[in-house]
Amino acid sequence: MNEHPAWQWNEIQQVGTDYSDVAEVERYEQRMGEFRDLPAEDAAILDTLALAKGARILEIGTGTGHFARAAAKAGYCVTALDVSTAMLQYAEDRAKADGLTGLEFRHAGFLTLSAAPSTFDAAVSVAVLHHLPDLWKAVALANIHRALKPGGRFLLCDVVFSSKGRDPRVQFDAFLNTVPQSMRDGASCHVAKEYSTLDWIMEGLLTRAGFSIECIVDSEAPLIQYRCTTGSSGSEPTKRAY
Ligand SMILES: C[S@@+](CC[C@H](N)C(=O)[O-])C[C@H]1O[C@@H](n2cnc3c(N)ncnc32)[C@H](O)[C@@H]1O
Repeated sequence: MNEHPAWQWNEIQQVGTDYSDVAEVERYEQRMGEFRDLPAEDAAILDTLALAKGARILEIGTGTGHFARAAAKAGYCVTALDVSTAMLQYAEDRAKADGLTGLEFRHAGFLTLSAAPSTFDAAVSVAVLHHLPDLWKAVALANIHRALKPGGRFLLCDVVFSSKGRDPRVQFDAFLNTVPQSMRDGASCHVAKEYSTLDWIMEGLLTRAGFSIECIVDSEAPLIQYRCTTGSSGSEPTKRAY
């Protein structure tokens, strides 16, 4: 990872869940599988992106690399980043075991990615941006925008809370109720210590970074997916519930 200015947020530090812990990494997919269908999610993201074979995809916060592997298997050229060396090791081992090519793992994150401008056709980040405070989300999104080719696509999915009149604390309880009992402590830690934000802030951050939000898929879970492109379409995003 490159040197960075003294004022830069240290994205290597673990905030909330400790993904540098090997035991946490090894049980990650099994835990996620209790409330997420990872293969179906990954396939749906690839369908949504609708890229030409061989297109270059940047994934930020690859975790165990399930999406990166699915994308490489589908014939895309993938650069997958994570700030946790334990996660990267696990992801690399799984990719090697599957004999995958066209897949590169790098120890870097939103703030330390060093891609030349206009390198990628698409960027994907699922359940990661909430690790950064809002100020640094803005920097992260500008970095992604710069790394994408003109017309490039960005699919962002994360826990984002709604501003639609409800007391946020009601939503926090609702969020806890969407996860299995065994994960309630983790979900509480997410709300108390990590940096999930509000929908209007996220929309503003994306737009200010130069993205055009084509579609917002709101599961009310509160996992929200933003389907964006670089450049401005000038039209209001379509809002869809699952
Ligand atoms: C909840 S996991 C999500 C993993 C995967 N995207 C998924 O959907 O299953 C969050 C991952 O983001 C990584 N991460 C945290 N902060 C990051 C940052 N600033 N840049 C890149 N990755 C980061 C963590 O190490 C962890 O692997």
